[in-house]
Amino acid sequence: MAIKGNSTDNKTRNSVSIIIVVGLCCFFYLLGAWQRSGFGKGDSIAVEITKQTDCTSTPNLSFETHHGGDSISDELKSPNFEPCDESYIDYTPCQDQRRAMTFPRNNMIYRERHCPPDKEKMYCLIPAPKGYVAPFPWPKSRDYVPYANVPYKSLTVEKAVQNWVQYEGNVFRFPGGGTQFPQGADKYIDQLASVIPIANGTVRTALDTGCGVASWGAYLLKRNVLAMSFAPRDSHEAQVQFALERGVPAVIGVLGSIKLPYPSRSFDMAHCSRCLIPWGANDGMYMMEVDRVLRPGGYWVLSGPPINWKTNYRAWQRTKEDLEQEQKGIEEIAELLCWEKYTEIGEIAIWRKRINADSCPGRQDEPRVKMCEIVNDDVWYKKMEACVSPFPEVNNADEVAGGELKPFPERLYAVPPRISSGSVTGYSVESYQEENKIWKKHVLFYKKINKLLDTGRYRNIMDMNAGLGSFAAAIDSPNLWVMNVVPTIADTSTLGVIYERGLIGIYHDWCKMEDILLEMDRILRPEGAVIFRDEVDVLIKVKKMIGGMKWSSKLADHEDGPLVPEKILVAVKQYWMKQVSWKPQSAMIIDGFDGGEREEDGGDTRTHSRDGDGDGSGHAVGKEALKRVVV
Ligand SMILES: *[C@@H]1O[C@H](CO)[C@@H](O)[C@H](O)[C@H]1NC(C)=O
Ligand SMILES: *[C@@H]1O[C@H](CO)[C@@H](O)[C@H](O)[C@H]1NC(C)=O
Repeated sequence: MAIKGNSTDNKTRNSVSIIIVVGLCCFFYLLGAWQRSGFGKGDSIAVEITKQTDCTSTPNLSFETHHGGDSISDELKSPNFEPCDESYIDYTPCQDQRRAMTFPRNNMIYRERHCPPDKEKMYCLIPAPKGYVAPFPWPKSRDYVPYANVPYKSLTVEKAVQNWVQYEGNVFRFPGGGTQFPQGADKYIDQLASVIPIANGTVRTALDTGCGVASWGAYLLKRNVLAMSFAPRDSHEAQVQFALERGVPAVIGVLGSIKLPYPSRSFDMAHCSRCLIPWGANDGMYMMEVDRVLRPGGYWVLSGPPINWKTNYRAWQRTKEDLEQEQKGIEEIAELLCWEKYTEIGEIAIWRKRINADSCPGRQDEPRVKMCEIVNDDVWYKKMEACVSPFPEVNNADEVAGGELKPFPERLYAVPPRISSGSVTGYSVESYQEENKIWKKHVLFYKKINKLLDTGRYRNIMDMNAGLGSFAAAIDSPNLWVMNVVPTIADTSTLGVIYERGLIGIYHDWCKMEDILLEMDRILRPEGAVIFRDEVDVLIKVKKMIGGMKWSSKLADHEDGPLVPEKILVAVKQYWMKQVSWKPQSAMIIDGFDGGEREEDGGDTRTHSRDGDGDGSGHAVGKEALKRVVV
């Protein structure tokens, strides 16, 4: 899982010095959350995205500098991390409502990720919401979430008739409904499965754009389909947080003006159910972005308006003309993209992306189709464009562009096409297989160190430097899911491999060590666990720092014995409450979620003072990530 850097220019060289930090310190983190008694087990992950420039502009604040034995290293020895004010309980630095409102609203730019400048970064520990308890174990967590963990009732009011979520005593109940699936997500998926090969492992990875509380992804799990769900932080900003509390993968995200943080050809299926994305707008840019991340032969599902408008226009309170026009626009773009209209069942329309360019003769010559010139997976903070991503070349008309994938679960250990074609720098078929072997061994050892690892106690797990996804493959289990994070300073083409294995992940930008550790503290549940694997001297420094964050930790030898310089540091975030004292308590903290979410409801005393303006509030950090991740 070594991170590779190529230092061809100045900017990359800066990155290299950071790579060392991240390469060492983030070699691998496992974030898990643990539950206390009471409610049961589970956990959630949250990842947060920081702007790339935050890292590259301050290389000298990196870890090495702090080892110099000067005053900085003193600071390192006795880190002084204070609890943040309680109003930050829900702090999500890159999704701050007040900052968001300074950005334009067109194309949802204000809902994209906007991280704080260095001087506004907070270096304190986020307290837990009052009364936080560990989530229920899966699958109960799919249907019930403790109210204290996400104390926002507005969704239960706003979506009351749509059966998304109900408030019952001290828990939220998720009946599995959604705006578009009044009969429940399961029945809805049955309909999809009648035309899309979901049952036999052909469809394994899915993208849910505008996911709500992620019921779709939640119910796909039992069909062995792993969905990456995203929703922006908006006036229902707790949505992603609910998803994570339910133990379902989700990240804060939006289709706005920058590309989605996933490689090309990642998903077997993409889905929008009343997701409010204007598919026909901007010359089809959003559909083109979905096309980019869809695997050749992948499916696009659109349900709700305008599909079947003839029957529903009254219920939707829109004019026939308006809806007809909207559908026509979408159909036209689908045609330009050369998608095949598969079927329409009621309000569900399904298209299929062709398997290669041979299936779209003449597309290159169609003047309305602008093909993208730059084709690579360097998408981090890159502007989205209204252009069509070309298929990789094929040798004959039956070949699947980019390589055909085995059905899941065979896919997990099959040689991914990106590896066999040699398109991932530094990896060969042999090194891929070698890495799988190594990680199987590591995971076996982790299970010895932490016997609860695969018992359901840890539900949301994040690999902060996922490489080829070999950790996630080795730990694969119905009890848990792994968000694989590929740092943007690493070779980002490995994320494509992760998807080709039938796993999910996201690009992210981890910065300086202190930031990373604080960020981990923010997204980790109370009593969540972390596993660091690194050289012993690095781990000793990490141990000191996390002591200042009130984590308890233990250094363990490498599974091959004490003579190996690489060691394992296992840490557990303690449970503490803000007001009481700074001593570990019995049950608190959550990943940085929760909190001042609902400005709208004036009665909520938790409202963030910093976020205060009506339209959705400060919250998304934790969720965002995990959504992007979150373990
Ligand atoms: C960063 O470190 C490099 C090498 O140690 C040094 O040459 C450079 O001047 C430093 N930059 C700043 C802004 O301190
Ligand atoms: C899975 O099902 C689809 C649709 O029934 C079929 O076309 C495909 O060949 C099947 N794949 C495998 C590997 O069985």
